[in-house]
Amino acid sequence: MTTNIDRLWEPARVAASITHGAIHTTLDDRLRGELAATDAIPERVVCALTDPKPLDICMPVLNAVLAAQYQEVFAALALPNTLSVYEPCVGASPPVIFATEAYGQGSYLTINLNRKLRGELQNKIAHIKSVIRIIEENAVAATVSLPDNSFDVACFHHAINDILQTACAEPRGMDTTAIDWFPNERQMIEWLAEDFQRDQLASRGKPELMSIVGEAARLVKPGGYLVFDHFNWCRFIGVDWFPWDLFYNLIPMTRGWITESALPLQEVSLSGLPTQWWMIWQVKD
Ligand SMILES: C[S@@+](CC[C@H](N)C(=O)[O-])C[C@H]1O[C@@H](n2cnc3c(N)ncnc32)[C@H](O)[C@@H]1O
Repeated sequence: MTTNIDRLWEPARVAASITHGAIHTTLDDRLRGELAATDAIPERVVCALTDPKPLDICMPVLNAVLAAQYQEVFAALALPNTLSVYEPCVGASPPVIFATEAYGQGSYLTINLNRKLRGELQNKIAHIKSVIRIIEENAVAATVSLPDNSFDVACFHHAINDILQTACAEPRGMDTTAIDWFPNERQMIEWLAEDFQRDQLASRGKPELMSIVGEAARLVKPGGYLVFDHFNWCRFIGVDWFPWDLFYNLIPMTRGWITESALPLQEVSLSGLPTQWWMIWQVKD
């Protein structure tokens, strides 16, 4: 594999990228202003790179660091400069879009359900020059017709929990397209925890997630990649309604599901990639 990165996410390199490098140039004025007003950036970058995420995390730094992490993954995988990115379930989180913009002359498409988050995202990315398409559909059964092999990479940025939560919430009557996501998220997580404790994810949650993963494997070109990350917040340790064990193991659990599936995917490793929180699969030729 060609790579100009020996080991991912060296903190000083990430700090340089978000303060005056490639990621900095993709941020809007508000985010740049927030970073400019933040002290001790190198220490805060180390904190943002720590998993689970510590209590004293600085959100503007974390958001920029997530973008830098994806951009370094793209570089380490030697993706083309004109890369084409698919991201299911973006919500209002732009790190993958910023990484795409910073990486080269990219294009980006997301399939995402929640309408209010879509609006928030559009405000955050109004300055972005890359071609962006947002499709408001359920990624499990999207009617939009996307050809095979259309993308270089699919990025599941902190999306596994969102897909599982939606799969558990919709059958219980919650319209996750229309709700205000965050005030309703605790209820979604409680339902997910309930299904997990009853050992029901195999019939509700896993099929939806694996369908979206399978669709991503179809949409990504042979030789391209599916990239997954998940992180947890230390503030949820010991919180009685929060299913810490499930959320701690979302990546390993999904790795097991992909491994036992018949999908044409092969896991790849990168130096510095923590396998508890990230995984990368290559689409077989
Ligand atoms: C809170 S946002 C999270 C955004 C991002 N993944 C993150 O965590 O930073 C969750 C988004 O995932 C979307 N989502 C969940 N399941 C989905 C599905 N099956 N199809 C399309 N969008 C889905 C929701 O509609 C919502 O917009």
